[in-house]
Amino acid sequence: MPHNNQNANLLSLLPFFLLLLLSASYLQQSHARPLFACDPRNGLTRGLRFCRTNLPIQVRVRDLLGRLTLQEKIRLLVNNAAAVPRLGMGGYEWWSEALHGVSNVGPGTKFGRSFPGATSFPQVITTAASFNASLWEEIGRETPGEDPVLAGKYAASYVRGLQGDGAGNRLKVAACCKHYTAYDLDNWNGVDRYHFNARKITGWH
Ligand SMILES: *[C@@H]1O[C@H](CO)[C@@H](O)[C@H](O)[C@H]1NC(C)=O
Repeated sequence: MPHNNQNANLLSLLPFFLLLLLSASYLQQSHARPLFACDPRNGLTRGLRFCRTNLPIQVRVRDLLGRLTLQEKIRLLVNNAAAVPRLGMGGYEWWSEALHGVSNVGPGTKFGRSFPGATSFPQVITTAASFNASLWEEIGRETPGEDPVLAGKYAASYVRGLQGDGAGNRLKVAACCKHYTAYDLDNWNGVDRYHFNARKITGWH
């Protein structure tokens, strides 16, 4: 019957409709997510050597550094690193605060959707007072107290915890110590470290 034939024809087209729907929703999703550096969806960077994940990291780093101009390198040295569109790299704000857990006071951290928040650990001075190095490695944060031996061991555990064990030649992050003794006066209430007499405070440390 003509009616049944029509149904059969429609049924045979069903897989194509499903495919069309799936690819439409895939395209929608992939468009919703902005391109990231070395994104395989980006034809511009697909052939670049530093984007090839099967190459050793040193080779990729050397290739990337070789492509960057001096101006571009300098603009990457600050926390609001500028984009390098010709190499498919977006701008990147990496400044954030983790005094006792990742907080959202820094411009580089935005909670929401899949990451609604982060654990807020107790004040660090009490964690330091536990003298438990494996605990420090797990939850280390800033300011463990005045004891130089403890502060040194704390810093080593903290950095190890942040960076990971380097498995696969990759660090989780590249940690960098700051706020050394007698240095913590970046710019506070009109005082900065270039314009005060350090001799007056030597007794404090
Ligand atoms: C030290 O901290 C670890 C967690 O990293 C914990 O499992 C262990 O029980 C702690 N040790 C002591 C003596 O409290």
